Amino acid sequence: HPHIHYQNGLLQVEDQNLDALATEYGTPLFVYSKASMLAALAAYQRGFAGRNAQICYAMKANSSLAVLQVFARAGCGFDIVSGGELERVLAAGADVSKVIFSGVGKTRTEMQRALEAGIGCFNVESEAEIEVLNTVAVALNLRAPISIRVNPNVDPKTHPYISTGLKGNKFGIAHERTLATYQRAAALPGLHVVGIDCHIGSQITLEAPYLDAMDRMLDLVESIEAAGIPIEHIDFGGGLGINYAGDTPPAADALWAKLLAKLDARGFGQRKLMIEPGRSLVGNAGVCVTEVLYMKPGEQKNFCIVDAAMNDLPRPAMYQAFHNIVPLNESQQAGSSADVFDVVGPVCESGDWIGHDRALAVQAGDRLAVLSAGAYCMSMSSNYNSRPRAAEVLVDGPQAHLIRARDTLADQLRGEKLL
Ligand code: LLP
Repeated sequence: HPHIHYQNGLLQVEDQNLDALATEYGTPLFVYSKASMLAALAAYQRGFAGRNAQICYAMKANSSLAVLQVFARAGCGFDIVSGGELERVLAAGADVSKVIFSGVGKTRTEMQRALEAGIGCFNVESEAEIEVLNTVAVALNLRAPISIRVNPNVDPKTHPYISTGLKGNKFGIAHERTLATYQRAAALPGLHVVGIDCHIGSQITLEAPYLDAMDRMLDLVESIEAAGIPIEHIDFGGGLGINYAGDTPPAADALWAKLLAKLDARGFGQRKLMIEPGRSLVGNAGVCVTEVLYMKPGEQKNFCIVDAAMNDLPRPAMYQAFHNIVPLNESQQAGSSADVFDVVGPVCESGDWIGHDRALAVQAGDRLAVLSAGAYCMSMSSNYNSRPRAAEVLVDGPQAHLIRARDTLADQLRGEKLL
Protein backbone atom coordinates (compact mmCIF):
# COMPACT_ATOMS: atom_id res chain seq x y z
CA HIS A 1 0.00 0.00 0.00
CA PRO A 2 1.64 3.26 -1.10
CA HIS A 3 0.40 5.41 1.81
CA ILE A 4 0.65 2.86 4.64
CA HIS A 5 4.03 1.13 4.69
CA TYR A 6 7.12 0.30 6.72
CA GLN A 7 9.94 2.78 6.59
CA ASN A 8 13.19 2.04 8.40
CA GLY A 9 11.39 -0.88 10.01
CA LEU A 10 8.51 1.17 11.41
CA LEU A 11 4.93 1.34 10.15
CA GLN A 12 3.98 4.74 8.77
CA VAL A 13 0.89 6.46 7.44
CA GLU A 14 2.26 8.81 4.81
CA ASP A 15 5.14 10.60 6.58
CA GLN A 16 3.89 9.90 10.10
CA ASN A 17 5.26 7.23 12.37
CA LEU A 18 2.38 5.31 13.95
CA ASP A 19 4.25 4.46 17.13
CA ALA A 20 4.91 8.16 17.77
CA LEU A 21 1.25 9.00 17.10
CA ALA A 22 0.12 6.26 19.50
CA THR A 23 2.45 7.60 22.19
CA GLU A 24 1.08 11.11 21.67
CA TYR A 25 -2.65 10.31 21.43
CA GLY A 26 -2.97 6.93 23.14
CA THR A 27 -4.54 3.71 21.92
CA PRO A 28 -6.79 2.47 20.43
CA LEU A 29 -6.23 5.11 17.78
CA PHE A 30 -7.61 5.35 14.26
CA VAL A 31 -5.21 6.92 11.77
CA TYR A 32 -6.23 7.82 8.22
CA SER A 33 -4.29 8.88 5.14
CA LYS A 34 -5.81 11.77 3.24
CA ALA A 35 -3.70 10.98 0.16
CA SER A 36 -5.04 7.44 0.16
CA MET A 37 -8.65 8.69 0.22
CA LEU A 38 -7.97 11.09 -2.62
CA ALA A 39 -6.21 8.36 -4.63
CA ALA A 40 -9.24 6.10 -4.25
CA LEU A 41 -11.48 8.95 -5.37
CA ALA A 42 -9.19 9.66 -8.33
CA ALA A 43 -9.76 6.12 -9.67
CA TYR A 44 -13.48 6.89 -9.99
CA GLN A 45 -12.77 10.36 -11.41
CA ARG A 46 -10.51 8.83 -14.07
CA GLY A 47 -13.23 6.33 -14.91
CA PHE A 48 -15.74 9.16 -15.39
CA ALA A 49 -13.47 11.57 -17.29
CA GLY A 50 -15.49 13.39 -19.95
CA ARG A 51 -18.81 12.11 -18.56
CA ASN A 52 -21.64 13.80 -16.74
CA ALA A 53 -21.16 12.03 -13.42
CA GLN A 54 -21.50 12.85 -9.74
CA ILE A 55 -19.80 10.92 -6.96
CA CYS A 56 -21.80 10.92 -3.73
CA TYR A 57 -19.64 9.53 -0.92
CA ALA A 58 -21.76 7.13 1.18
CA MET A 59 -20.76 8.74 4.44
CA LYS A 60 -21.99 5.94 6.67
CA ALA A 61 -18.66 4.25 5.90
CA ASN A 62 -16.80 6.96 7.84
CA SER A 63 -18.72 10.00 8.95
CA SER A 64 -16.03 11.96 10.79
CA LEU A 65 -16.34 15.65 9.96
CA ALA A 66 -12.79 16.09 8.66
CA VAL A 67 -13.18 13.07 6.38
CA LEU A 68 -16.37 14.59 5.00
CA GLN A 69 -14.54 17.87 4.54
CA VAL A 70 -11.83 16.15 2.48
CA PHE A 71 -14.46 14.75 0.10
CA ALA A 72 -16.51 17.96 0.01
CA ARG A 73 -13.41 19.94 -0.98
CA ALA A 74 -12.66 17.36 -3.67
CA GLY A 75 -16.06 18.10 -5.22
CA CYS A 76 -18.01 15.10 -3.95
CA GLY A 77 -21.65 15.00 -3.06
CA PHE A 78 -22.88 12.74 -0.27
CA ASP A 79 -25.26 9.85 0.19
CA ILE A 80 -26.92 10.23 3.58
CA VAL A 81 -29.31 7.98 5.48
CA SER A 82 -30.46 10.03 8.48
CA GLY A 83 -31.07 13.51 9.82
CA GLY A 84 -27.85 13.17 11.80
CA GLU A 85 -25.87 12.51 8.63
CA LEU A 86 -27.51 15.56 7.02
CA GLU A 87 -26.33 17.80 9.89
CA ARG A 88 -22.84 16.34 9.57
CA VAL A 89 -22.50 17.03 5.85
CA LEU A 90 -23.85 20.54 6.31
CA ALA A 91 -21.31 21.12 9.11
CA ALA A 92 -18.54 19.82 6.83
CA GLY A 93 -19.37 22.35 4.11
CA ALA A 94 -21.08 20.08 1.59
CA ASP A 95 -22.86 21.47 -1.46
CA VAL A 96 -26.35 20.49 -0.36
CA SER A 97 -27.62 20.22 -3.92
CA LYS A 98 -25.24 17.26 -4.31
CA VAL A 99 -26.67 15.42 -1.30
CA ILE A 100 -28.96 12.45 -1.80
CA PHE A 101 -31.01 10.82 0.94
CA SER A 102 -31.30 7.01 0.99
CA GLY A 103 -32.82 4.66 3.55
CA VAL A 104 -36.01 2.69 4.13
CA GLY A 105 -37.17 4.52 7.24
CA LYS A 106 -37.01 8.29 6.74
CA THR A 107 -39.16 10.12 9.28
CA ARG A 108 -41.37 13.10 8.49
CA THR A 109 -39.04 15.33 10.51
CA GLU A 110 -36.01 14.14 8.51
CA MET A 111 -37.85 14.69 5.22
CA GLN A 112 -38.87 18.19 6.25
CA ARG A 113 -35.38 19.22 7.29
CA ALA A 114 -33.86 17.79 4.10
CA LEU A 115 -36.44 19.56 1.92
CA GLU A 116 -35.85 22.88 3.67
CA ALA A 117 -32.10 22.46 3.32
CA GLY A 118 -32.57 21.88 -0.43
CA ILE A 119 -31.08 18.43 -0.93
CA GLY A 120 -30.58 17.12 -4.44
CA CYS A 121 -32.67 13.96 -4.33
CA PHE A 122 -34.62 11.60 -2.09
CA ASN A 123 -33.94 7.98 -2.94
CA VAL A 124 -37.36 6.62 -2.10
CA GLU A 125 -37.58 3.00 -0.99
CA SER A 126 -41.30 2.15 -0.77
CA GLU A 127 -44.73 3.03 -2.08
CA ALA A 128 -45.79 4.16 1.40
CA GLU A 129 -42.79 6.50 1.64
CA ILE A 130 -43.84 8.16 -1.63
CA GLU A 131 -47.19 9.14 -0.15
CA VAL A 132 -45.65 10.51 3.05
CA LEU A 133 -42.96 12.48 1.23
CA ASN A 134 -45.62 14.00 -1.02
CA THR A 135 -47.66 15.10 2.01
CA VAL A 136 -44.62 16.62 3.72
CA ALA A 137 -43.57 18.51 0.56
CA VAL A 138 -47.08 19.81 -0.16
CA ALA A 139 -47.35 21.14 3.40
CA LEU A 140 -44.11 23.07 2.85
CA ASN A 141 -45.24 24.22 -0.58
CA LEU A 142 -42.20 22.50 -2.09
CA ARG A 143 -41.61 19.72 -4.60
CA ALA A 144 -39.34 16.93 -3.51
CA PRO A 145 -36.90 15.69 -6.17
CA ILE A 146 -37.10 11.91 -6.12
CA SER A 147 -35.51 8.81 -7.45
CA ILE A 148 -36.98 5.38 -6.83
CA ARG A 149 -34.67 2.71 -5.50
CA VAL A 150 -35.18 -0.36 -7.58
CA ASN A 151 -34.41 -3.80 -6.30
CA PRO A 152 -32.83 -5.42 -9.37
CA ASN A 153 -32.83 -8.90 -7.78
CA VAL A 154 -29.22 -9.77 -8.56
CA ASP A 155 -26.98 -11.72 -6.20
CA PRO A 156 -23.82 -9.77 -5.42
CA LYS A 157 -22.21 -12.90 -3.91
CA THR A 158 -21.15 -11.19 -0.71
CA HIS A 159 -21.96 -11.71 2.98
CA PRO A 160 -25.76 -12.08 3.46
CA TYR A 161 -25.88 -9.18 5.94
CA ILE A 162 -24.50 -6.80 3.34
CA SER A 163 -26.27 -7.93 0.18
CA THR A 164 -29.17 -5.64 -0.42
CA GLY A 165 -30.45 -6.14 -3.97
CA LEU A 166 -32.15 -9.52 -3.60
CA LYS A 167 -35.90 -10.08 -3.48
CA GLY A 168 -35.90 -11.06 0.17
CA ASN A 169 -34.17 -7.82 1.26
CA LYS A 170 -35.99 -4.91 2.86
CA PHE A 171 -34.50 -2.45 0.36
CA GLY A 172 -35.96 -0.86 -2.74
CA ILE A 173 -39.08 -1.47 -4.76
CA ALA A 174 -39.58 -4.78 -6.54
CA HIS A 175 -38.71 -4.76 -10.21
CA GLU A 176 -42.32 -5.61 -11.17
CA ARG A 177 -43.76 -2.69 -9.16
CA THR A 178 -41.38 -0.08 -10.52
CA LEU A 179 -43.37 1.28 -13.44
CA ALA A 180 -46.62 1.58 -11.48
CA THR A 181 -44.76 3.34 -8.66
CA TYR A 182 -43.20 5.84 -11.07
CA GLN A 183 -46.63 6.54 -12.56
CA ARG A 184 -48.04 7.19 -9.10
CA ALA A 185 -45.10 9.45 -8.15
CA ALA A 186 -45.35 11.44 -11.40
CA ALA A 187 -49.01 12.18 -10.63
CA LEU A 188 -48.35 13.62 -7.16
CA PRO A 189 -48.10 17.43 -6.80
CA GLY A 190 -45.37 17.39 -4.14
CA LEU A 191 -42.93 15.20 -6.05
CA HIS A 192 -40.68 15.71 -9.05
CA VAL A 193 -39.24 12.55 -10.58
CA VAL A 194 -35.55 13.09 -11.40
CA GLY A 195 -33.88 9.70 -11.30
CA ILE A 196 -33.68 6.01 -10.67
CA ASP A 197 -31.30 4.25 -8.29
CA CYS A 198 -30.17 0.87 -7.05
CA HIS A 199 -27.58 -0.50 -4.64
CA ILE A 200 -27.04 -4.22 -4.76
CA GLY A 201 -24.76 -4.83 -1.81
CA SER A 202 -21.38 -4.13 -0.30
CA GLN A 203 -17.86 -5.56 -0.51
CA ILE A 204 -18.64 -6.81 -4.03
CA THR A 205 -15.57 -8.26 -5.70
CA LEU A 206 -17.09 -9.48 -8.98
CA GLU A 207 -17.97 -7.54 -12.12
CA ALA A 208 -20.86 -9.73 -13.25
CA PRO A 209 -23.48 -8.61 -10.68
CA TYR A 210 -22.80 -4.99 -11.60
CA LEU A 211 -23.14 -5.64 -15.32
CA ASP A 212 -26.39 -7.59 -14.76
CA ALA A 213 -27.83 -4.89 -12.52
CA MET A 214 -26.99 -2.24 -15.11
CA ASP A 215 -28.87 -4.14 -17.81
CA ARG A 216 -31.91 -4.47 -15.59
CA MET A 217 -31.77 -0.77 -14.67
CA LEU A 218 -31.57 0.29 -18.30
CA ASP A 219 -34.52 -1.97 -19.20
CA LEU A 220 -36.51 -0.16 -16.53
CA VAL A 221 -35.42 3.30 -17.67
CA GLU A 222 -36.61 2.42 -21.17
CA SER A 223 -40.03 1.31 -19.97
CA ILE A 224 -40.47 4.28 -17.60
CA GLU A 225 -39.54 6.76 -20.31
CA ALA A 226 -41.81 4.96 -22.79
CA ALA A 227 -44.58 5.73 -20.31
CA GLY A 228 -43.74 9.44 -20.64
CA ILE A 229 -41.73 9.94 -17.44
CA PRO A 230 -38.23 11.30 -18.14
CA ILE A 231 -35.36 9.99 -16.02
CA GLU A 232 -32.64 12.63 -15.70
CA HIS A 233 -30.13 10.59 -13.79
CA ILE A 234 -29.19 6.99 -13.18
CA ASP A 235 -27.71 6.34 -9.72
CA PHE A 236 -25.91 3.03 -9.59
CA GLY A 237 -25.24 2.89 -5.84
CA GLY A 238 -22.01 1.83 -4.19
CA GLY A 239 -20.71 -1.54 -3.11
CA LEU A 240 -17.31 -1.96 -4.75
CA GLY A 241 -15.15 -4.11 -2.49
CA ILE A 242 -11.63 -3.59 -1.21
CA ASN A 243 -8.74 -5.93 -0.55
CA TYR A 244 -8.93 -7.15 3.06
CA ALA A 245 -7.44 -10.63 2.69
CA GLY A 246 -6.24 -11.13 -0.84
CA ASP A 247 -9.61 -10.07 -2.29
CA THR A 248 -9.33 -8.95 -5.88
CA PRO A 249 -12.13 -6.51 -6.66
CA PRO A 250 -11.96 -4.75 -10.02
CA ALA A 251 -10.37 -1.29 -9.98
CA ALA A 252 -13.00 1.46 -10.02
CA ASP A 253 -11.85 2.84 -13.37
CA ALA A 254 -11.69 -0.60 -15.01
CA LEU A 255 -15.15 -1.52 -13.74
CA TRP A 256 -16.59 1.74 -15.00
CA ALA A 257 -14.95 1.34 -18.39
CA LYS A 258 -17.06 -1.81 -18.79
CA LEU A 259 -20.22 -0.26 -17.39
CA LEU A 260 -19.82 2.85 -19.56
CA ALA A 261 -19.31 0.67 -22.62
CA LYS A 262 -22.66 -0.93 -21.83
CA LEU A 263 -24.31 2.46 -21.35
CA ASP A 264 -22.85 3.68 -24.65
CA ALA A 265 -23.95 0.56 -26.50
CA ARG A 266 -27.50 1.03 -25.27
CA GLY A 267 -27.60 4.76 -26.05
CA PHE A 268 -27.36 6.05 -22.47
CA GLY A 269 -23.79 7.33 -22.66
CA GLN A 270 -24.72 11.00 -22.18
CA ARG A 271 -27.15 10.41 -19.32
CA LYS A 272 -26.23 11.93 -15.96
CA LEU A 273 -24.71 9.25 -13.72
CA MET A 274 -24.44 9.12 -9.98
CA ILE A 275 -22.73 6.62 -7.70
CA GLU A 276 -22.64 6.14 -3.93
CA PRO A 277 -19.32 4.54 -3.01
CA GLY A 278 -18.42 4.26 0.67
CA ARG A 279 -15.97 1.52 1.61
CA SER A 280 -13.91 1.76 -1.59
CA LEU A 281 -13.09 5.43 -0.86
CA VAL A 282 -11.99 5.08 2.76
CA GLY A 283 -11.57 1.43 3.76
CA ASN A 284 -7.92 0.98 2.95
CA ALA A 285 -7.04 4.54 3.95
CA GLY A 286 -7.20 3.79 7.67
CA VAL A 287 -5.66 1.64 10.39
CA CYS A 288 -6.47 1.13 14.04
CA VAL A 289 -3.43 1.11 16.32
CA THR A 290 -3.82 -1.00 19.43
CA GLU A 291 -1.51 -1.98 22.29
CA VAL A 292 -0.99 -5.53 23.51
CA LEU A 293 -2.16 -5.74 27.13
CA TYR A 294 -1.50 -9.41 27.94
CA MET A 295 -0.23 -12.52 26.23
CA LYS A 296 -2.26 -15.45 27.51
CA PRO A 297 -1.04 -18.79 26.19
CA GLY A 298 -3.38 -21.68 26.90
CA GLU A 299 -3.81 -25.38 26.43
CA GLN A 300 -6.28 -25.14 23.57
CA LYS A 301 -5.80 -21.59 22.39
CA ASN A 302 -3.36 -18.75 22.78
CA PHE A 303 -4.82 -15.32 23.27
CA CYS A 304 -3.33 -11.93 22.58
CA ILE A 305 -5.41 -9.43 24.52
CA VAL A 306 -5.28 -5.94 23.07
CA ASP A 307 -6.81 -2.62 24.10
CA ALA A 308 -9.09 -2.36 21.03
CA ALA A 309 -12.33 -4.33 21.11
CA MET A 310 -15.57 -5.09 19.33
CA ASN A 311 -16.91 -1.68 20.33
CA ASP A 312 -14.10 -0.09 18.25
CA LEU A 313 -13.88 -2.71 15.49
CA PRO A 314 -17.27 -4.41 15.21
CA ARG A 315 -16.81 -6.04 11.80
CA PRO A 316 -15.23 -9.34 12.92
CA ALA A 317 -17.95 -9.91 15.54
CA MET A 318 -20.76 -8.89 13.20
CA TYR A 319 -19.72 -10.42 9.88
CA GLN A 320 -16.82 -12.73 10.74
CA ALA A 321 -14.84 -10.17 8.76
CA PHE A 322 -11.10 -10.54 8.27
CA HIS A 323 -8.73 -7.64 8.96
CA ASN A 324 -4.99 -8.03 8.64
CA ILE A 325 -3.12 -7.36 11.88
CA VAL A 326 0.55 -6.36 11.70
CA PRO A 327 3.16 -5.20 14.23
CA LEU A 328 4.18 -1.53 14.12
CA ASN A 329 7.73 -2.76 14.38
CA GLU A 330 8.65 -4.69 11.23
CA SER A 331 11.24 -6.74 13.13
CA GLN A 332 8.38 -8.27 15.14
CA GLN A 333 6.81 -9.86 12.08
CA ALA A 334 6.25 -13.50 12.91
CA GLY A 335 8.29 -16.19 11.19
CA SER A 336 6.71 -19.41 9.97
CA SER A 337 7.44 -21.18 13.27
CA ALA A 338 5.69 -18.52 15.38
CA ASP A 339 2.78 -19.46 17.63
CA VAL A 340 -0.70 -18.45 16.58
CA PHE A 341 -3.01 -16.37 18.75
CA ASP A 342 -6.57 -15.18 18.74
CA VAL A 343 -6.38 -11.41 18.96
CA VAL A 344 -9.16 -10.38 21.31
CA GLY A 345 -10.34 -7.27 23.13
CA PRO A 346 -11.25 -6.59 26.77
CA VAL A 347 -15.05 -6.74 26.23
CA CYS A 348 -16.82 -9.42 28.22
CA GLU A 349 -18.10 -11.52 25.31
CA SER A 350 -16.59 -14.44 23.46
CA GLY A 351 -17.65 -12.67 20.25
CA ASP A 352 -15.15 -9.93 21.05
CA TRP A 353 -12.39 -10.96 18.72
CA ILE A 354 -10.41 -8.99 16.13
CA GLY A 355 -8.57 -11.86 14.45
CA HIS A 356 -8.43 -15.63 14.74
CA ASP A 357 -5.25 -17.75 14.57
CA ARG A 358 -2.74 -15.03 13.79
CA ALA A 359 0.97 -15.76 13.89
CA LEU A 360 2.45 -13.18 16.26
CA ALA A 361 5.82 -12.51 17.81
CA VAL A 362 4.89 -9.68 20.16
CA GLN A 363 4.77 -9.06 23.89
CA ALA A 364 2.71 -7.00 26.27
CA GLY A 365 3.37 -3.32 25.60
CA ASP A 366 4.02 -3.81 21.87
CA ARG A 367 1.70 -2.20 19.38
CA LEU A 368 -0.19 -3.67 16.46
CA ALA A 369 -2.06 -2.10 13.56
CA VAL A 370 -5.40 -3.48 12.42
CA LEU A 371 -5.46 -2.74 8.69
CA SER A 372 -8.30 -1.76 6.35
CA ALA A 373 -9.99 0.01 9.25
CA GLY A 374 -11.05 3.20 7.47
CA ALA A 375 -14.60 2.03 6.63
CA TYR A 376 -17.38 0.81 8.92
CA CYS A 377 -15.19 0.76 12.03
CA MET A 378 -15.30 4.13 13.78
CA SER A 379 -18.71 4.84 12.24
CA MET A 380 -20.08 1.63 13.77
CA SER A 381 -18.29 1.97 17.09
CA SER A 382 -20.14 2.11 20.39
CA ASN A 383 -19.59 2.71 24.08
CA TYR A 384 -20.37 -0.92 24.99
CA ASN A 385 -18.83 -1.90 28.33
CA SER A 386 -18.69 1.87 28.93
CA ARG A 387 -15.54 2.04 26.88
CA PRO A 388 -14.63 5.46 25.50
CA ARG A 389 -14.83 5.85 21.74
CA ALA A 390 -11.31 5.97 20.26
CA ALA A 391 -9.50 9.06 19.00
CA GLU A 392 -8.94 9.69 15.28
CA VAL A 393 -6.01 11.29 13.46
CA LEU A 394 -5.96 12.32 9.81
CA VAL A 395 -2.52 12.42 8.25
CA ASP A 396 -1.88 14.89 5.46
CA GLY A 397 1.73 14.44 4.30
CA PRO A 398 4.00 15.73 7.05
CA GLN A 399 1.07 16.88 9.18
CA ALA A 400 -1.07 14.88 11.60
CA HIS A 401 -4.39 16.39 12.66
CA LEU A 402 -6.30 15.11 15.66
CA ILE A 403 -9.77 15.10 14.08
CA ARG A 404 -11.60 13.54 17.00
CA ALA A 405 -10.55 13.49 20.62
CA ARG A 406 -11.00 10.31 22.61
CA ASP A 407 -14.27 10.28 24.59
CA THR A 408 -13.91 11.54 28.11
CA LEU A 409 -15.90 10.04 30.96
CA ALA A 410 -17.96 13.23 30.96
CA ASP A 411 -18.80 12.63 27.28
CA GLN A 412 -20.11 9.21 28.20
CA LEU A 413 -22.27 10.38 31.09
CA ARG A 414 -23.64 13.44 29.31
CA GLY A 415 -27.41 13.37 29.06
CA GLU A 416 -27.90 10.76 31.75
CA LYS A 417 -29.67 11.43 35.03
CA LEU A 418 -30.05 9.62 38.32
CA LEU A 419 -33.60 9.02 39.53
N1 LLP B 1 -25.62 3.27 -0.95
C1 LLP B 1 -26.50 2.65 -0.14
C2 LLP B 1 -27.92 2.86 -0.34
C3 LLP B 1 -26.03 1.81 0.89
O1 LLP B 1 -26.89 1.19 1.67
C4 LLP B 1 -24.62 1.64 1.06
C5 LLP B 1 -24.09 0.77 2.12
C6 LLP B 1 -23.76 2.32 0.20
C7 LLP B 1 -24.29 3.11 -0.80
C8 LLP B 1 -22.26 2.22 0.30
O2 LLP B 1 -21.81 0.92 0.07
P1 LLP B 1 -20.25 0.61 0.01
O3 LLP B 1 -19.69 1.32 -1.21
O4 LLP B 1 -19.64 1.12 1.26
O5 LLP B 1 -20.17 -0.85 -0.10
N2 LLP B 1 -21.29 -2.36 7.76
C9 LLP B 1 -21.05 -3.25 6.63
C10 LLP B 1 -21.39 -2.59 5.32
C11 LLP B 1 -22.81 -2.06 5.26
C12 LLP B 1 -23.13 -1.36 3.96
C13 LLP B 1 -24.45 -0.67 4.06
N3 LLP B 1 -24.83 0.08 2.90
C14 LLP B 1 -19.61 -3.71 6.69
O6 LLP B 1 -18.88 -3.30 7.59
O7 LLP B 1 -19.17 -4.51 5.86
